Amino acid sequence: MIKISPSILSADILKLEEEVRSLDINGADYIHIDIMDGHYVPNITFGPNIVKSIRKVTSKILDVHLMIKPVKQYIEEFIDAGSDIITFHPEADDNAEEIIKIINNAKVKAGIAIHPKVNISDIDHLFNLVQQIIVMTVTPGFGGQKFMHDQVRKIKDLDDIRKNNNYNYEIAVDGGVNNENAKICKENGANVLAVGSYLLSQNQDNYSEIINSLR
Ligand code: DX5
Ligand code: ZN
Repeated sequence: MIKISPSILSADILKLEEEVRSLDINGADYIHIDIMDGHYVPNITFGPNIVKSIRKVTSKILDVHLMIKPVKQYIEEFIDAGSDIITFHPEADDNAEEIIKIINNAKVKAGIAIHPKVNISDIDHLFNLVQQIIVMTVTPGFGGQKFMHDQVRKIKDLDDIRKNNNYNYEIAVDGGVNNENAKICKENGANVLAVGSYLLSQNQDNYSEIINSLR
């Protein structure tokens, strides 16, 4: 079954604990935490301290999405903070293979994210090394943007590459996911959906129903 990874990017930071607990009891599989540095992307969000705090209130998988440049020097802190999966954008550092090794040596899952402007063929040498690949269906930086249908082809290509080579990464989709395009993502081979504004703009009483309908 497809896993739902709610993104806390659009949460009210002052109510973050309540929000995370609510997502937890209403069936979220992962908690997606967007780390932005104002450099790789034009927006600034959180650092490792938020991961550490969220770790204390949930045992769900913490799916940390780094939109930072460079990457390597910050990895250790995100490992120590309690991340379960650390995904980064390989073009944001010169040391992608080494970063994946550092993450995996700490028994944390490693992922790479594909910016809409990056082609699969630019980074396919990393596919046999990672446990998650995020297909970005918006330009990274902000929640609430429109799903880019022209990126769906990458989901399908990643699924084919996985089958043909016996790779075992999970394919995640991140950006503008809603009830309608979730179906398309699933049909094309996605295993994980990161969902921000579509879910968090709703009343918490409806979380369980929305999460189930996205599945
Ligand atoms: C975008 C982030 C996404 C974002 C998803 O840069 O990586 O995770 O929070 O939010 P929505 O679902 O609103 O696009
Ligand atoms: Zn994200």
